[in-house]
Amino acid sequence: MSNLDLNVHNHLDEGTEALRADVREGLSAATKWLPPKWFYDARGSELFEEITTLPEYYPTRAEREILTREAAEIARVTAARTLVELGSGSSEKTRLLLDSLRAHGSLGEFVPLDVSSSALNAAAEAITAEYPGLSVHGVVGDFTEHLELLPGARPRLVAFLGGTIGNFLPAERSKFLRSVRDVLDEGEWLLLGTDLVKNPDVLIRAYDDAAGVTAEFNRNVLRVINARLGADFDPDRFAHESYWDAERSWIEMRLRAKEDLTVRIPGAGMEVWFAEGEYVRTEISAKFRPGQVRDELADAGFALERWWTDAENRFGVSLARSVRA
Ligand code: SAH
Ligand code: TRP
Repeated sequence: MSNLDLNVHNHLDEGTEALRADVREGLSAATKWLPPKWFYDARGSELFEEITTLPEYYPTRAEREILTREAAEIARVTAARTLVELGSGSSEKTRLLLDSLRAHGSLGEFVPLDVSSSALNAAAEAITAEYPGLSVHGVVGDFTEHLELLPGARPRLVAFLGGTIGNFLPAERSKFLRSVRDVLDEGEWLLLGTDLVKNPDVLIRAYDDAAGVTAEFNRNVLRVINARLGADFDPDRFAHESYWDAERSWIEMRLRAKEDLTVRIPGAGMEVWFAEGEYVRTEISAKFRPGQVRDELADAGFALERWWTDAENRFGVSLARSVRA
């Protein structure tokens, strides 16, 4: 599927079967929901990149600040020969790690993995050109399913950045961390980015920017369902909402029907009725407390070796070592 003279393996068939199953389950639930991975077609990936540059969306800048400061230390501690990146997107911040690992002299291979083939191919192509001698092995896949396929010389460093770990529900999150631990040998590494609990106004605005880019990104999931399952969602009839659930400590992204609506989704063999004001939950983004990250990592078989935050304590990066199977 790749037109590139590089190593990209696609483990997703068209994925339409999986989308159909998710749509059937999520849109027939009492509180409707959709899994976030369907945001990321080519346009969704572009919109996400735009989000990362918005004044309200601080996580990218805060995480970049930490990686800029600590990249040399990460290379020194891990001496990784392979850098694996899950949900790699544009791999923009990842270049800081590639630079430091290369300067340290250990790095031979980079393995980015993402569901978005457009984002993956573009990043793999750019990095292949920018880092002569580095072996780039791109994987188009789902990080909840395709981890056992990750290649690379040991020790490997698995980076999971952007706070994407927060997009899992708590039970899925612990399962995911264990599955990462399962594919690592003892002594290999996880670098994890987590957004932290803070003033709710700041959190809400990070997911509801003034320019409306996040709203477009959120509605993109409806366009993906229209394109792939022949549905007739009118995205303009859904209002974007960013809601802070203080009890569960997560931001919820919602699309709320502005009026009573019936939507036909032939590819899923269903019609869906929306009452005015009814919403679809399209994503959660959990926000963490520092001690919580250490505990969840320990439960999954990782020992926290380093914990860093940005100067304003908005975002945390953990470096953890796998300790037991
Ligand atoms: N790591 C980047 C991008 C974060 S956005 C950053 O820090 O800026 C989340 C990324 O994860 C997107 O590129 C999206 O395509 C990818 N993604 C979402 N769900 C996924 C899944 N189930 N499997 C693999 N990649 C996924
Ligand atoms: N991993 C990102 C986060 O939780 C994904 C994201 C950012 C996102 N903005 C969004 C997902 C808006 C849906 C809608 O911060």
